[in-house]
Amino acid sequence: MQIFIDTADIDEIKEAQSLGVLDGVTTNPSLVAKTGKPFEACIKEILEVVPGPVSVEVVATDHDGMVAEAKTFASWADNVVVKVPIIREGLKAIKTLSDEGIKVNVTLCFSPMQALLAAKAGAAYISPFVGRLDDISTDGMELIQQVVDIYGNYAYDTEVLVASVRNPLHVVASALMGADVCTLPLKVIDQLLKHPLTDKGLEAFLADWEKVEKG
Ligand code: E4P
Repeated sequence: MQIFIDTADIDEIKEAQSLGVLDGVTTNPSLVAKTGKPFEACIKEILEVVPGPVSVEVVATDHDGMVAEAKTFASWADNVVVKVPIIREGLKAIKTLSDEGIKVNVTLCFSPMQALLAAKAGAAYISPFVGRLDDISTDGMELIQQVVDIYGNYAYDTEVLVASVRNPLHVVASALMGADVCTLPLKVIDQLLKHPLTDKGLEAFLADWEKVEKG
């Protein structure tokens, strides 16, 4: 399973990269706003250090506007993936962009049929938002299972990118379901690594090492 980091913060991205397990980055307008940086400078700074896919989201809500923004983003680097919301105009834009060879990550997906339409339109990635579904008492991971099954039934190439991940249990379930990608806040990447028995065991080994005669 690929691991992306879900942030536009360059320091967090560099920290995750230093762990050696980072495959890509996802951003959205809210994450860029949090950095306080101008949009284009923020994205270009990320593109300078990340060789893998970097998702950059359009803000136009009409087909022509989305396509124009997407083409600008795609001109910045070969690894740009354009994020398009799964609305009526977005669906048209996914088809146009995919036909032109621009990779699209379809965002704000909350239903299996939205995912099916995105795949039919040629999306490279579908981003179902699991945490936001959990927040309204709907099982987000059930949606992931449905999308994985539907895509498998018809051999769609669209990759399932689990988004809005809030905790390690989402990641475990994603891996068991065979999702292609999880995009994670740095905090969740850290949580994946942490285990109290690892810390306790290391502490004991190091304490015992002090008792060993050296040389
Ligand atoms: C990533 O592609 C999404 O924009 C992001 O995971 C949304 O996460 P949130 O629901 O925590 O804002």
